[in-house]
Amino acid sequence: MAVTRRRLLGIAAGTGTAAAIGLAVPWLISSAETGRLLPSEVPLPDPFRMPLPIPPVLEPLSADGIDRYEVTHRRALVEVIPGMTTEIWGYDGRFPGPTIVSRRGRPVVVRHRNHLPVPSAVHLHGGRTPAASDGYPTDLILPDGADGVAGLSQHRHHDPQAITTRVFRDYEYPMSQRAATLWYHDHRMDFTGPGVWRGLAGFHLVHDDEEEALPLPAGDRDIPLMIADRSFAADGSMRYPSLDPTHQHTPGVEEGFRQGVLGDVVLVNGVAWPFHEVPSVRYRLRLLNASNTRRYRLALDPPPVGGAGLVQIGSDGGLLDRPVGHDIIDIAPGERFDVVVDFGRYAPGQPVTLVNRLGVGSTRNVMQFRVVGGATDDSAVPARLSTIEPLQPGRGTVTRDFVFRNAEDHTWEINGRQFDPARMDATVPLGDTEVWRFTTDFHHPVHLHLEHFQVLTRNSEGRGPFDSGWKDTIDLRPAERVAVAVRFTDHPGRYVFHCHNLEHEDMAMMANMQVVSR
Ligand code: C2O
Ligand code: CU
Ligand code: CU
Repeated sequence: MAVTRRRLLGIAAGTGTAAAIGLAVPWLISSAETGRLLPSEVPLPDPFRMPLPIPPVLEPLSADGIDRYEVTHRRALVEVIPGMTTEIWGYDGRFPGPTIVSRRGRPVVVRHRNHLPVPSAVHLHGGRTPAASDGYPTDLILPDGADGVAGLSQHRHHDPQAITTRVFRDYEYPMSQRAATLWYHDHRMDFTGPGVWRGLAGFHLVHDDEEEALPLPAGDRDIPLMIADRSFAADGSMRYPSLDPTHQHTPGVEEGFRQGVLGDVVLVNGVAWPFHEVPSVRYRLRLLNASNTRRYRLALDPPPVGGAGLVQIGSDGGLLDRPVGHDIIDIAPGERFDVVVDFGRYAPGQPVTLVNRLGVGSTRNVMQFRVVGGATDDSAVPARLSTIEPLQPGRGTVTRDFVFRNAEDHTWEINGRQFDPARMDATVPLGDTEVWRFTTDFHHPVHLHLEHFQVLTRNSEGRGPFDSGWKDTIDLRPAERVAVAVRFTDHPGRYVFHCHNLEHEDMAMMANMQVVSR
């Protein structure tokens, strides 16, 4: 369970200064979970009773060189737990929202309409998006009729640069980026945690020629899996410990949950512990951790003979240069891992459970695959997938340090400061490669908007086993230090970076960067 702050500081004090935290004690406390369990009030159902839903792919309204879509944010009643009705807030009333499928280089415009009782803001996570369409937390879509402005005025910080709209907003995505698994989700100032918890999240997949030239599993053998934990009240509604259950005025969660909210029901694509029947062939699984706080250590149970059942082909920013075989994958909130699993390595009839080795009790299970028999498989995982040009920091490279820590008043800070839209925390010239170093006290999954980065070092060593390729979110365990290389190339403007533990994010663990032309 949660490490108390006092205990953490006690350990840190024994090692000397705060700077020493970065290097000295990672393994002492790295097994601890950040966050607190909010138990469900309903009896938990047996796992593997509901089939895995695949979110439908959204049809463009027109596709004359630009793919145009429309998505409505609204409440809906759905079945998340067998036999129960749950109200969600969903894109088009779905959780997950509909999947948007794009091609590299073909621009996309999504008109998002807000029919919720609260303001919203949509962020395409992993998108290389112009600032005006990035879903800056104060660039709100105010709901019709509702007194959206009242909701705004409650914000701790007035933001003169905010561009709000009424009822709808057009988000423009150039899609000049590699094939990758992106996702879109709510990013409303101070209320991202409850918004995503209630269901505001969906996939946005990008394809390109390079990837399609490879013999990877495709079509219905390429499935996105949105993994997210939740808790349920006796009436089937989602439980969340908001100070203000209307999510209208007062941000934040009850005192005991400031480290983050953990649920006891694991959902995949919006249903509890689903199952999926698969022929004994290769599948591409696009794993996304859309949980607010929970980290997972994913593994196949039983593992295939010979091990390395999870063959990673991609990370947040698309294909790796070559595949990496894993027995386990650690995935933190916001991260994506594209893996190929060869169900041909199992006997027909064999159930294969995707488990969570960090889970306890009900959160040990994620979902189950049932291998139903033969089919032809002409897919393969080539030894070479793509080319990743290494970002080379040189002499004179600008290095910035960001310390992610708990503050005295129980908020969360970066470099000793809470998020303030009016303060610029980093000004970065277009085209430069920089080194950004992150240091933590607790678990903090650090996410940069706009650009992907490459991990250079973790603590004093090289990359960790899950740090390959282009990343936009990096999991830091307590008292770690990670250095990444990043280059901002295309879009000037104001963007955020933040902890992707959504309770930490809502409690101010976010900062601004201004990308400037030189
Ligand atoms: Cu996935 Cu700023 O977020
Ligand atoms: Cu993002
Ligand atoms: Cu955090």
